[in-house]
Amino acid sequence: MTLFEKLRCLLTFGQGIALPISELSADAKPLPLFEQWLNDAKKSGILLPESMSVSSCSKEGQPSSRMVLLKEFDEEGFVFYTNYASRKSHELEENSKVALLFHWNVLQLQIRIEGTVSKVSSEQSANYFHSRDRGSQIGAWASKQSQKLTHDNELKERDVHFKNKFADSSEIPLPKFWGGWQIKPHYIEFWQGRASRLHDRICFEKEDGQWQKFKLHP
Ligand SMILES: Cc1cc2nc3c(=O)[nH]c(=O)nc-3n(C[C@H](O)[C@H](O)[C@H](O)COP(=O)(O)O)c2cc1C
Repeated sequence: MTLFEKLRCLLTFGQGIALPISELSADAKPLPLFEQWLNDAKKSGILLPESMSVSSCSKEGQPSSRMVLLKEFDEEGFVFYTNYASRKSHELEENSKVALLFHWNVLQLQIRIEGTVSKVSSEQSANYFHSRDRGSQIGAWASKQSQKLTHDNELKERDVHFKNKFADSSEIPLPKFWGGWQIKPHYIEFWQGRASRLHDRICFEKEDGQWQKFKLHP
């Protein structure tokens, strides 16, 4: 590690110094590395370190991106929750190919993920939905995500409407139009900024069910 890199690690991680990925062991797997970097980002005090960009593509071939929050991940994939009638959900229904992007600027780390999406079970969505605060649960009912407001106060009025509707309900039902998407990855790339733009790019690609590791020029 150069002095610059050591200083950066000390400043950003405190005690936990992430190894440059060029020093990864040959049998390194993407998921433990992803988990390590996300934990490093959490420790660094970055706001919403679990924020990620999700890119989808319309059937006409127009890509679009937006930030969402990663809520769960394991060997099966990466999960976020949203409105199933939103623009992104319509596009994901039409084209299951998707790209995710994490960027932790202060740590000079980026992770690119490509894969295919599917909906999580309604049980899994309900479990997550009911773990949210009541205001957010009502907000999910109130928002016709991605649709034009018919007038300026429409969202506020709908929020009041659903607050009243569920005023006597101890549990707010999971809307049928709301739930999780799981991205099953087939490509994961870890980028770490290095001095003189000689950055590291370590890639994992799934071939016949096995992760193959290789490096790319920066
Ligand atoms: C940091 C951040 C996190 C967000 N998390 C979510 C999320 O988890 N789910 C969601 O539906 N929208 C989330 N949003 C809002 C989306 O970026 C987007 O505006 C919304 O989902 C509508 O996108 P669409 O019209 O392309 O479907 C978040 C926005 C930001 C800036």
